[in-house]
Amino acid sequence: MIKLDHAHVTAAFHRYRIDAPHWRKAALVNTICAALEIHAQLEEEIFYPALRAAKPTAIAIDKSVPEHNAMRDSIAKLRTMDPSTPGYDDTVMDLMREVIHHVADEETILLPMAEDVLARDLRTLGAQMNTRRLQLVAGRPVEIAVNSAGAFPILKFSLAGLALVGLLAAFSRIPPAQRGAR
Ligand SMILES: [Fe+2]
Ligand SMILES: [Fe+2]
Repeated sequence: MIKLDHAHVTAAFHRYRIDAPHWRKAALVNTICAALEIHAQLEEEIFYPALRAAKPTAIAIDKSVPEHNAMRDSIAKLRTMDPSTPGYDDTVMDLMREVIHHVADEETILLPMAEDVLARDLRTLGAQMNTRRLQLVAGRPVEIAVNSAGAFPILKFSLAGLALVGLLAAFSRIPPAQRGAR
């Protein structure tokens, strides 16, 4: 699940175009920022504490929260900027570099460690993270829907429409059958 979140946000960064209309840049960046904030909070509340409890000597965990905080600083900076502002693209690239560096560390060090020391608990932890994700998404539904619609203009691109459905499903983790019933 963590890897899937990483893949979604990395793919979203790859959709960023410097020459895109400002409204589309802002929508995509806001979508990325919301996804990062929710993902970081899930890790800090559930994943990192579980990993630390299972492997207290793992110093690799220690730099995770400071790296999240560096991303939060870049997110806060972006939220003060208009996409037309000089430096906006550079700040997006700074955030992308921070995310790529952090994701690489997690996927090469922390996740293999978790598979080793938390093997029996991974399913339970995943369920806890899904439940918490629903709570966090429920707290900001309009923001996520509006920005996702701007980031993935479904009226123009049918494939982007599918991407929107996939991204929202990734945010909410609601099984397709339940989504259809709602
Ligand atoms: Fe992560
Ligand atoms: Fe992380």
